[in-house]
Amino acid sequence: MKKTTQQKPAKTGRGKKNIVIIGAQWGDEGKAKMVDVLTEQVDIVARYQGGSNAGHTVVTGGKKFVFHQIPSGILHTGKKCVIGNGVVLDPVALLGEMESLVKAGVRVRDRLIISDRAHLLMPYHRLLDGASEIRKGSGKIGTTNRGIGPAYMDKMARVGLKVIDFYEPSYFRQKVREVVKEKNFWLKNYYGQKTVNADQVVDQYLKLAPKIKPLVADTTQYLEKKLSSGENILAEGAQGTLLDVDFGTYPYVTSSSASVGGVSTGLGIGPQWLDEIYGVAKAYTTRVGEGPFPSEMDEVFSEKIRHRGGEYGATTGRPRRCGWIDLVALKYACRINGFTGILLTKVDVLSYLKTIKLCVAYKVNGKRVNEFPAGLQQLSRCKPVYKEMKGWDGDLTKASKLSDLPAEARRYLDEMERSIGVPLSWISVGPDRSQIFQNH
Ligand code: IMP
Repeated sequence: MKKTTQQKPAKTGRGKKNIVIIGAQWGDEGKAKMVDVLTEQVDIVARYQGGSNAGHTVVTGGKKFVFHQIPSGILHTGKKCVIGNGVVLDPVALLGEMESLVKAGVRVRDRLIISDRAHLLMPYHRLLDGASEIRKGSGKIGTTNRGIGPAYMDKMARVGLKVIDFYEPSYFRQKVREVVKEKNFWLKNYYGQKTVNADQVVDQYLKLAPKIKPLVADTTQYLEKKLSSGENILAEGAQGTLLDVDFGTYPYVTSSSASVGGVSTGLGIGPQWLDEIYGVAKAYTTRVGEGPFPSEMDEVFSEKIRHRGGEYGATTGRPRRCGWIDLVALKYACRINGFTGILLTKVDVLSYLKTIKLCVAYKVNGKRVNEFPAGLQQLSRCKPVYKEMKGWDGDLTKASKLSDLPAEARRYLDEMERSIGVPLSWISVGPDRSQIFQNH
């Protein structure tokens, strides 16, 4: 058979693997640090879903960077970064992020490529996100208030505007006017909020359009060309599998595909390109926003872990809810994504605890449940079944190999690995780029 450009060159021939990084829990697993570390092995880093709801923190040389839309790989000079079509792009926030990176001495302009197919996050999306949360009251989702849900709603409802539409100003104006009519109806009559002026929105946005124009391209073509010529990519996911719109704890989820399927739809590359699919998981569990969380700790313990682990949202500053590792949920994430390895973070945070718990199953009305349930009601009824293990003392932040960890910590990791059946490929023991080691 004739080889087409669509076919993946043999992995073994080049030895350059394409890598996917996916959150294996409810987000905030430490993906950005893993992206930062693994960027050294790739040529291009590409974001494929989400938007400015993400808060990806990288600490390097004592300096802290928080990325919302720009791939965390931007800190590596010489690597290209792509914002894929699956991202909802907030141009105001993007330009702000670019500016602060430039101020910090990071070259951005000739290294960032933005998909012409990405949907634009408009000012009315933010207003609708906030208004909808207020209206829901105690039943709110607990969103990041960045307009993400309403932007994806418009995309699916086929009334969204894409980056490419920026460059057809009269079409852009006409579409915004049409859409704003409906948005204002909802804002005023259903939510009782202030309305927006379509022409002001258009004027504001069309002023931004030229600033990002040099970065805009057909990223599907760009990636295909690069992959075919032997360059490799790292696909950087945002949020996590349990926040995925299909597989997460719906409706307490984000509005995009945060699991592996999102890579192909969000970058326009076939799944045959994906080699290593890494799930990033914390050694315990956290979540921000509302929704069921079977292995959630009591507030006293939660506060202890929150304090030690600095568990506050990187985008909203909200305190994260903390819980024990949930192996039912983690196994589910491994199955949904086909993880080839787990990158385990924040093991150091669990030091100095007498006992460590692992949620190994759930119980519903006295019956043991081993599978992560599909429905919110079912999950809300799940009570955790814990296996307890002896904790360990000592500062783990200087460990550079598995044998540097106390025996109890190694036993904890062994138990986790045995239970999920996926290797713990990397172990992270602190926030800095250097505080990590490869395990398998
Ligand atoms: P949205 O993505 O802003 O619509 O928020 C929906 C849910 O996803 C809320 O529970 C948020 O707290 C959660 N979420 C969104 N982005 C992140 C993230 O980057 N880390 C953790 N949770 C997130």
